[in-house]
Amino acid sequence: MGEQPENVSQQNIARRGSRMFAPGEGPSPDPAGAHFERRIRSFQPRRSRVTAGQAEAMLKRWPDWGLDIDGKRVLDLDGMFGGLPVVLEIGFGMGEATAQMAAADPGTGILAVDVHTPGQGNLLGLADRNGLTNVRVANGDAIILLREMLTEDSLDGCRVYFPDPWPKKRHHKRRLIQPDFLTLLATRLRPGGVLHCATDWEPYAEQMLEVLSAHPDFENTQPDGGYAPRPAFRPLTRFEGQGLDKGHVVHDLLFARKPRDRDDR
Ligand SMILES: C[S@@+](CC[C@H](N)C(=O)[O-])C[C@H]1O[C@@H](n2cnc3c(N)ncnc32)[C@H](O)[C@@H]1O
Repeated sequence: MGEQPENVSQQNIARRGSRMFAPGEGPSPDPAGAHFERRIRSFQPRRSRVTAGQAEAMLKRWPDWGLDIDGKRVLDLDGMFGGLPVVLEIGFGMGEATAQMAAADPGTGILAVDVHTPGQGNLLGLADRNGLTNVRVANGDAIILLREMLTEDSLDGCRVYFPDPWPKKRHHKRRLIQPDFLTLLATRLRPGGVLHCATDWEPYAEQMLEVLSAHPDFENTQPDGGYAPRPAFRPLTRFEGQGLDKGHVVHDLLFARKPRDRDDR
C-alpha cells in the first residue's frame, strides 16, 4: 500500500527528506526543535499517513489557519480571531468534536493544538467545508505553546478531552494534568476562565480531581467539590465513543481560574 499515489506521506518524504509538506505548505515535523524537547512529554511522537483529502485541506488552509509551535514568537490572538474570546483545546485528535463546537458557537475562537498530522488535516478539512472561520490549528506541544507563545490572561478557557491516560504506573509522569501544567495554564487563563477536562479512565479522573482540587489557582465549579454533569456543548468525541464501547464511565471536570491575587505570579 505504501506505493499508492494517495500516500502523501511516503511520496513527499521521498521528495523532501523528513518533511511531509514543503515549508509554508503544512506543519513541520519538529517545529520547536530539540532545544524545547528534552523533557518528559505527554504524547508519543508517531508518523502517520495523511489521506489525499487531508493533504488537500492542509495545502489549501494551512497557510491561513495553521501554525507551527516553534516557541519563537508570541501569538496575537486578537488579530488571529478578530477579537473573539479564545478557548484552547489540547489534543483534538481527528477534530470532529472541535468542528462541531466551533459551528455551534461562532462567537468563540478555538485554538486547537495537537501533534497528529492526519488529525490536523482532517480538522482543517472540516473547517473548510463548513465555513468555520473561528478555528486555528496549532502543530506541536501544547506546553511550548502555553509557555513560549501565549501571554498572561490570553485564554478564556481550556479544553482537554480524553487525554492519553498512560495507564502503566511508570508512565504516569507523562499524564498532562499535573500540578506543573496547571500552574503554567493558570498564568494564561483569565480569572474566571474554565478548564474543562473529560476522561473515561477512572484512575486518571481521580487524579485530575485530586490535583485540581489541591491547586491554589483553581476552584471547582461544582458546589459539592466533585465531578460535573456533562455540559450540553461537549459533543461525543472519537476516544469517548471507544471508551463507552468498552463500558467505561465518563467524568467531566470543570474548574475555574480563581481571581488573580497580584502577587500569585
Ligand atoms: C487520546 S487522544 C484524544 C483525542 C480527542 N480529544 C478525542 O477525545 O477523540 C489524545 C490526543 O492528545 C494529543 N496530545 C497529547 N499530548 C499533547 C501535547 N502536549 N500537545 C499537543 N497534543 C497532545 C495526542 O496527539 C492525541 O491526539
